[in-house]
Amino acid sequence: MKQPDLSPTTRHIIIDPDNIDPDLIREAADVIRRGGLVAFPTETVYGLGANALDAKAVAKIFEAKKRPLDDPLIVHINDKASLDILVRDISPVETALAARFWPGALTLVLNKKDIIPDIVTTGLDSAAIRMPSGKIALALIKAAGVPIAAPSANLFGKTSPTTAAHVKEDLDGRIDLIIDGGSTDIGVESTVISVVDGEVRILRPGGVSVEEIREIVPRVKVYTEEEIIKCSPGKYKQHYAPRAAVVIVANDRAQTDKCLALAKEAAKRSKVGIMSKAEHAVFYKPFNTRVMGPGDDLAKCATGLFRVLREFDSDGTEIIFAEAVEERGLGLAIMNRLRKAAG
Ligand code: TXA
Ligand code: MG
Repeated sequence: MKQPDLSPTTRHIIIDPDNIDPDLIREAADVIRRGGLVAFPTETVYGLGANALDAKAVAKIFEAKKRPLDDPLIVHINDKASLDILVRDISPVETALAARFWPGALTLVLNKKDIIPDIVTTGLDSAAIRMPSGKIALALIKAAGVPIAAPSANLFGKTSPTTAAHVKEDLDGRIDLIIDGGSTDIGVESTVISVVDGEVRILRPGGVSVEEIREIVPRVKVYTEEEIIKCSPGKYKQHYAPRAAVVIVANDRAQTDKCLALAKEAAKRSKVGIMSKAEHAVFYKPFNTRVMGPGDDLAKCATGLFRVLREFDSDGTEIIFAEAVEERGLGLAIMNRLRKAAG
């Protein structure tokens, strides 16, 4: 008789970032050293990690995520000494940026050395490097004793996970271990930059804001999505797509009126959801409304963004009306992800 499919499960361990259990970290580090895959929290989103110096292990990341092989990974380090092993010709501007923002949500695209296998960088001469500030991430890299290549721990095309439950939704049974360290602090991915002739080019807005970078380097160029498609490999395929259609409602005085009118009309045919700022939720009472955060607290909104998109996916929402936020600070990263979700 045919047995019912038993759902595969990945071992799930809980680690308190403020009281890290060394035995559990050692267990996770052993998985990395043996060439396995570990999902772990960083301060931005959960990453899916493998030994960055082991091409076979890194290949498993692409397989588990169903990620195309032309979308390069970020290499995570836990101290600046590791930089010299991985990359060459670091410029004074890059050094200053690392000094100011590491550990933290900034990823620097640097000239790679041969020690980084081609699969990590998809054959590019450059490698994206980040020293995260998440305590579990730092402890894991340290215990593993190798740099950890890690994209966000979601299936390709899905929103990045901000909880271990999100990771499980996408990757259960496809990876070796999930470290559950609670919700991530920032909620959007790191800012990816490259420095060319002393100018900072923002390839992906993220957890470190353009305003903060401008305090260190005056010449900052924020690339439009079209420009990034031309110069950044893999980018064109990134869509952060929820199952529902996403419609962005402009951030102006008529925002709530417009959102209500659109939702009323759409509700005649489809299951509607509204992603609202906290202060507007009261207007949307009759609709399935989820709050991203207060409009004047963009850091809060960032932590709510991917969670809310995933919640709408789980409840079968077909069309999401998303309130745009102000494009300053973390608002730039939020609107970048929302536009990608809207396609
Ligand atoms: O916050 C984050 O950055 C998270 C956590 C886990 O660290 N990671 C993350 O990785 O978001 P991922 O793979 O989802 O996004 C990395 C992006 C790539 O899609 C690519 O666009 C860019 O970084 N990237 C990586 N290497 C690059 C390179 N050599 N040149 C240009 N862009 C690169
Ligand atoms: Mg990703």
